[in-house]
Amino acid sequence: MPVKNDMTADFLRSAYGGESMAHMRYLVWGDVADKEGFPNVGRLFRAIAYAEYAHADNHLRELGDKKQDFSVTAGAVFGVGKTEQNLQGGIDGELHEIEQMYPVYLNAAKFQDEKGAARAFHYALEAEKVHADLFTKARDSVREGKDIAIGDVHVCDVCGHTTTDGLPDKCPICGANKEMYKTFS
Ligand SMILES: [Fe+2]
Ligand SMILES: [Fe+2]
Repeated sequence: MPVKNDMTADFLRSAYGGESMAHMRYLVWGDVADKEGFPNVGRLFRAIAYAEYAHADNHLRELGDKKQDFSVTAGAVFGVGKTEQNLQGGIDGELHEIEQMYPVYLNAAKFQDEKGAARAFHYALEAEKVHADLFTKARDSVREGKDIAIGDVHVCDVCGHTTTDGLPDKCPICGANKEMYKTFS
């Protein structure tokens, strides 16, 4: 069921804009990490970029067939620095989403009884918590001149859940089964 209320639709468009930019920014920062000799950080950026793609995809779909043109205002971190700075940018962006953006958007969607939008915001909010944690570990490692010690990174196609702790049987956020995960090795 597509979104009915303008306020929640605005928030979906803003979140779509923010996730789209995060997706692209992480791909660029992943290339920088590769060039600086941190291939695991590069892979982590690409895996998390894929999770942000899943979020953008969910937000766009919840807008349904509303095909009008809109100018979108979305918070985003800008700039390309060294990998340590880029990881800090990732942490800052994720924390903004966790502490301010998604809780507000989620509550608005619930208030307006927008179940689909609320689900999309809930998925993103929960996934971003893991992203902030992984970026923090990566930043601490790079600060010491070392790549982050991780193996495969698994990303749930449905909700963007991201894990380096092995493939779960079921997604802890959305309940999807393990076939729905994409693996970055
Ligand atoms: Fe994220
Ligand atoms: Fe999931």
